[in-house]
Amino acid sequence: MRLKEKVAIITGAANGIGLAAALRFAEEGAKVVLADFDEQVGAAQAKVLGDQGYDVLFQQVDVSKQDSVETLVQKTIEHFGKIDILINNAGITRDAMLTKMTLEDFQRVLDVNLTGVFICTQAVVPYLLEQGHGKIINTSSVSGIYGNFGQTNYAASKAAVVGMTKTWAKEFGKKGVNVNAVAPGFVKTAMVAKMPEKAIDQMTSVVALKRLGESRDIANAYLFLASDESDYVNGHVLHVDGGIMM
Ligand code: NAI
Repeated sequence: MRLKEKVAIITGAANGIGLAAALRFAEEGAKVVLADFDEQVGAAQAKVLGDQGYDVLFQQVDVSKQDSVETLVQKTIEHFGKIDILINNAGITRDAMLTKMTLEDFQRVLDVNLTGVFICTQAVVPYLLEQGHGKIINTSSVSGIYGNFGQTNYAASKAAVVGMTKTWAKEFGKKGVNVNAVAPGFVKTAMVAKMPEKAIDQMTSVVALKRLGESRDIANAYLFLASDESDYVNGHVLHVDGGIMM
């Protein structure tokens, strides 16, 4: 029970990595708020976890909208009374080569993947600072570290998340709040399933472990960074990618 009695908000928890993290955190004793844009799937997944005896709540949210995130935080406090952990996991892609990328698609990816992380952290961090402890985990990506074909918007957003992570690690460290990031490699979720088979084969070939990641691989990294075991880890970007560049 590495997260006993901890309250965690996980954004983008209706699917993929966020959903795996919700289950993993609940298994370790956390009370989990599954926060997602997708109300239908999110509520259904929260019910599945609730039926298994886990203490979870679903809250619909658009992380790119300040009022929506304020509601998420208020509902979390009303229901669980505190917040200990924020996992900024929600993210989207709108891939195209630069010459074909629309400004709208560039902006929307930045709105969710970057501004969303800013908005959620700004709304949650006062609670963590007030209680003198807490963990914030942001989700970057290999694309943000190394760049990736067709992902100008996505890579920019995920690189910027690293900059915010390190800045917040400096700003909040002395108040007992750790801020770290996970940079997943290529993980078998809907996000990757959208890609052409040739691209998936190419991605797998550059991984030293010669397989794509599972959502649970990333959830386990979130868990480590959310638990007391990582109390002296701050401002770190944990690559969980099977070994791509070493
Ligand atoms: P996914 O597409 O399976 O799930 C993302 C979830 O975010 C969905 O449930 C979606 O409804 C939710 N979401 C989208 N926009 C939202 C918004 N505005 N407000 C609230 N929720 C919203 O994605 P996946 O693969 O689980 O990705 C999770 C995180 O991991 C993302 O930040 C992604 O960029 C990152 N990542 C994923 C990789 C992969 O290979 N799957 C690789 C590197 C990073």
